[in-house]
Amino acid sequence: MDTVFKIKRITVLGAGTMGQTIAYLFSENGIPTTLYDADNRVIDDMISKRGLHENLKLTKRLETAVSESDLIVESVPEIFNIKREVFLTIAPHVKQHAIIASNTSSFPLHVLSEGLPFSQRMMLIHFFNPADLIPLVELVKPAAMADAIVNDLISLLKTCGKVPVLLKRDINGFIANRLQAALLREACNLLQQGVAEVSDIDTVVKQSIGLRWALNGPFEITDLGGLDVWEKVLTNILPDLDNTTSVPLSINQLVNNNNLGLKTNKGFYDYPQSASNQAVLQREKLARLLKDIK
Ligand SMILES: NC(=O)c1ccc[n+]([C@@H]2O[C@H](COP(=O)([O-])OP(=O)(O)OC[C@H]3O[C@@H](n4cnc5c(N)ncnc54)[C@H](O)[C@@H]3O)[C@@H](O)[C@H]2O)c1
Repeated sequence: MDTVFKIKRITVLGAGTMGQTIAYLFSENGIPTTLYDADNRVIDDMISKRGLHENLKLTKRLETAVSESDLIVESVPEIFNIKREVFLTIAPHVKQHAIIASNTSSFPLHVLSEGLPFSQRMMLIHFFNPADLIPLVELVKPAAMADAIVNDLISLLKTCGKVPVLLKRDINGFIANRLQAALLREACNLLQQGVAEVSDIDTVVKQSIGLRWALNGPFEITDLGGLDVWEKVLTNILPDLDNTTSVPLSINQLVNNNNLGLKTNKGFYDYPQSASNQAVLQREKLARLLKDIK
């Protein structure tokens, strides 16, 4: 990439579900990228599975992984102590101007960055799975961070085909996961109340609102339907919706029985094929859908 960006090298920490596709995204868009994982087997496995782009370097050494990079994207497990440990370990080794970002799904920026030497250069860059396909990236920055730094990052993400949205506030769960959580809570509530089977609730979403959502957001849909109509609908339905703050029982029970979804071949559904096959199939379908939408 003939780049005018100040971000000339990127390091991704954690080569799991997300880290791998974040590293593919940047390297395949011409940016020299280094990918590190604490588990050597993950790196060895990656080398054997998918041909690596010439811009992608895999490493098993954390300090050298970060020392040359202008942007570091942490994508280790969603466990606070693991993330903090990674930040504390890399602190003495990162470049002075480097942006340190987390791909956390749920920790607010101020909680992750508190007391870290680079807290003023720390951001949240929330990708979606798979990061090299799904366009949206949610961004959260510290109030004092210079616009020029963020604008440089936004331009870079756009060049890689992403659609960045910069939040005005540092809020738990960002926008997309809050919306997803609200829908999932009500889906579980309908299941619990015996209104419909799992597959029927999924069908309702896929064959109606899901199709719409690929083209229109909630406000556009409300405008299309008529605000007066939606005012009445909300008046009638809102008092009936689930508003509990604990995790739905159906999810608790599955997790307690180690039924974690695709990765254990059983979740809300049974998966007869191996989990990796299902993931590959889903990825192919998603890629086709995105191509059609464009
Ligand atoms: N899975 C998703 O759909 C999704 C979407 C958006 C954001 N996220 C967030 O991305 C992050 C990673 O999630 P994931 O789904 O890729 O998890 P994952 O479990 O698939 O991958 C985590 C990787 O981190 C490695 N790791 C563990 N400790 C490490 C350390 N100290 N240093 C370096 N590597 C270490 C593990 O070996 C593993 O390969 C989490 O914060 C998660 O909330 C996940």
